[in-house]
Amino acid sequence: MDSQRTSTDAALLQMENICKEFPGVKALDNVSLKVRAGTVHALMGENGAGKSTLMKCLFGVYTKDSGRIFLEGQEVSFKNSKEALEHGVAMVHQELNQALKRSVMDNMWLGRFPKVAPYVPLTSDKKMYDETKKLFEELGINVDPRTIMSKMPVSQRQMVEIAKAVSFNSKIIVFDEPTSSLTEEEVEHLFRIIDMLKKRGCGIIYISHKMEEILRISDDVTVMRDGKWIATRPASELTMNEIIKLMVGRELTNRYPPKTNQIGDVLLKVENLSGEYSALRDVSFEAKRGEVLGIAGLDGSGRTEVLETLFGVAARRSGEITLDGKKIKNANPGDSIRNGFALLTEERRATGIFGILNIRENTVISSLKKYRTGPLLNQKKMVEATDWCIKSMRVKTPTQETKIRSLSGGNQQKVILGRWLLTEPTVLLLDEPTRGIDVGAKYEIYQLILNLANEGKTVLMVSSEMPELLGVCDRILVMSGGRLAGTVDAKTTNQEEIMALAAKYV
Ligand SMILES: Nc1ncnc2c1ncn2[C@@H]1O[C@H](COP(=O)(O)OP(=O)(O)OP(=O)(O)O)[C@@H](O)[C@H]1O
Ligand SMILES: [Mg+2]
Repeated sequence: MDSQRTSTDAALLQMENICKEFPGVKALDNVSLKVRAGTVHALMGENGAGKSTLMKCLFGVYTKDSGRIFLEGQEVSFKNSKEALEHGVAMVHQELNQALKRSVMDNMWLGRFPKVAPYVPLTSDKKMYDETKKLFEELGINVDPRTIMSKMPVSQRQMVEIAKAVSFNSKIIVFDEPTSSLTEEEVEHLFRIIDMLKKRGCGIIYISHKMEEILRISDDVTVMRDGKWIATRPASELTMNEIIKLMVGRELTNRYPPKTNQIGDVLLKVENLSGEYSALRDVSFEAKRGEVLGIAGLDGSGRTEVLETLFGVAARRSGEITLDGKKIKNANPGDSIRNGFALLTEERRATGIFGILNIRENTVISSLKKYRTGPLLNQKKMVEATDWCIKSMRVKTPTQETKIRSLSGGNQQKVILGRWLLTEPTVLLLDEPTRGIDVGAKYEIYQLILNLANEGKTVLMVSSEMPELLGVCDRILVMSGGRLAGTVDAKTTNQEEIMALAAKYV
């Protein structure tokens, strides 16, 4: 046996010198990756580094321009995802792509419906139900297979997607940012599933921007930058700072920009805010000009509901809102926007992106008024605004005319954030503003938030990342069981105090 062959045999999956070019972008430039059986291999890199593209080349979604892929020593080249799945390679995509009007089990079996009997062109509902139920029990997923997808929260839909990938009995499973929409409990659940898969001898490829996760579950780490392979190391030899340095290409001394915002008088007063259909109860608080007010709490504590009820997307049972001394209604999103509010939702990938429109169109769409001169839109101003957005957040794109759907996941997020910043809101409501965004770009986003505060605007920001709240906010509201459990000063509080408040009404 020649030595070439032996080295290939050692790895369950080996990708060698993969190249892939899109118009104007060299997405992958000679990238190699080796995944061992029974291990988790983390793939890290800034937004647009090429992580998803590499995985899509493996999975047959994209055709690589050159390079070779070996699965258990055999060279493979999948033409589509069906072929990949048949060969034991499954992938949980960054963007969920599910048939929302169909049931959970329909989604599980899409493209491989079981027949009632061989050669009979009827699918067996019973078999689908039984098999799905069995798998869910095995994985500890508590979902009725007959539930219609659209009736479930995104996090549960994500768990279904994960179960589906597992159901193919795959040897290689790719998780592309699987936890960005999962609750903390579900993250733990996923990690248990991953553990089980490792024991079965699967090779797991895991993509995430959450450093803590990476250090916790991975065995090997590969870092990419600008479409190139940078390093592969055992996770045990790496620290968070070393990974960041490899990703960004320089030392990142500060994770948070210096705070220079001046806090003024009360701008927003909210009294007895309660939800009609949510558990939100009698939340009252004030926010000042120039203040960044954080909202902390566990999943389901009502964090998101505060923003949504205030903005009028979620029905309100009670609540008085005073802006700048004047009573306002914020009866619906349109009304809130007229009152100077803007809301960046948590599920922006599902609700915020106009995929077939280009970046400029996606950027200016909520502030078109500003570019109107008579019946015409001022093209030059729109180009300038988009340029500002691309530069200030370092959106990685060849042009403004590029379709937003061809941007990497994190870069799409930046465009949507830019869209709301351009509406020049008086009160900016942000739900998990840095989710899916790499460490370097997070800094830029914090800076933009603080710039707004510096201009005397008020920012309300929900985040599940406590260091982020402590690093960016002035005060933090802590929600618990739909109620406001307390308000803390970010300068003097600590994680323990916030956790204790978050558990107050649970
Ligand atoms: N279908 C496509 N058409 C054109 N360009 C694309 C396409 N898919 C990806 N790209 C480009 O390839 C580069 C790599 O993108 P990719 O999605 O792989 O990044 P990523 O590392 O997954 O980033 P993120 O962390 O933001 O998800 C980006 O510049 C992106 O704009
Ligand atoms: Mg990606």
